[in-house]
Amino acid sequence: MANILLTGASRGIGLAARNALTLDSHLVIGQSTSGGDGLIAADFASPGAADALWEQALATSGGRIDVVINNAGVFEAADIADPDAFSGAWSRSLAINLQAAADLCRLAVLHFQQHGGGRIINVASRAGHRGDSPKHWHYAAAKGGMLAMTKTIARGYAAQNILAFAVTPGFTMTGMAEDYLASRGGDKLLADIPLGRVASAEEVGEAIRWLVSEAPASLTGATIDINGASYVR
Ligand SMILES: NC(=O)c1ccc[n+]([C@@H]2O[C@H](COP(=O)([O-])OP(=O)(O)OC[C@H]3O[C@@H](n4cnc5c(N)ncnc54)[C@H](OP(=O)(O)O)[C@@H]3O)[C@@H](O)[C@H]2O)c1
Repeated sequence: MANILLTGASRGIGLAARNALTLDSHLVIGQSTSGGDGLIAADFASPGAADALWEQALATSGGRIDVVINNAGVFEAADIADPDAFSGAWSRSLAINLQAAADLCRLAVLHFQQHGGGRIINVASRAGHRGDSPKHWHYAAAKGGMLAMTKTIARGYAAQNILAFAVTPGFTMTGMAEDYLASRGGDKLLADIPLGRVASAEEVGEAIRWLVSEAPASLTGATIDINGASYVR
């Protein structure tokens, strides 16, 4: 069974993935912003936090990590009319949604090269393909960057048995239903989803579990869409 570093493991998609992977008998080393509940604390808004997390995860795992899942993320609105809020949101979004994942991918690739390979699963978003709302340019850009990074890693290191996958959830219910829908624009969003509902965190968690435990090596470089056919490529 695999030793897995999973970011954003406290709630939502990360908690669902953690539960599914634990049921599969993997050792899941989880992270959240403030820790607790057996998780390592790391705030990716702080430079160097991802590197420090990696060292703690390595120590916890006895020196061997087989899988890294970059799931932690923030979805924060920024008004384009406010230059300070706009640039602040870009910095914060890129740091948490992209740079931390890149730092962990870098450390994972170097580690996997010494240990016969490994898997990376990056949780991006439908927004990385389709774009997002006018207040979330930065989020779509970070997630699009994550997709390009995943493909680059898959192509660059497959020969060393280092495999990289992305998942791109559409709207995924991760909190109280009413709060969640309100934060994403209300009932109107359902009209855009042929399946007629948003995804559950458990559905995304199951896709992540499958990529860790079962996906064939030839799938490396692939992006798994989970969006009720709201964006079909
Ligand atoms: N839900 C959706 O509709 C949706 C759609 C597409 C893609 N996604 C992506 O799926 C992933 C999980 O989303 P979710 O909706 O499950 O998120 P969520 O419920 O809001 O949970 C976010 C997770 O990220 C952690 N986190 C937040 N800020 C952080 C920071 N500054 N440093 C380190 N960790 C931080 C949180 O830790 P704390 O609990 O300590 O705050 C939590 O574990 C994200 O990458 C998100 O972009 C979500």
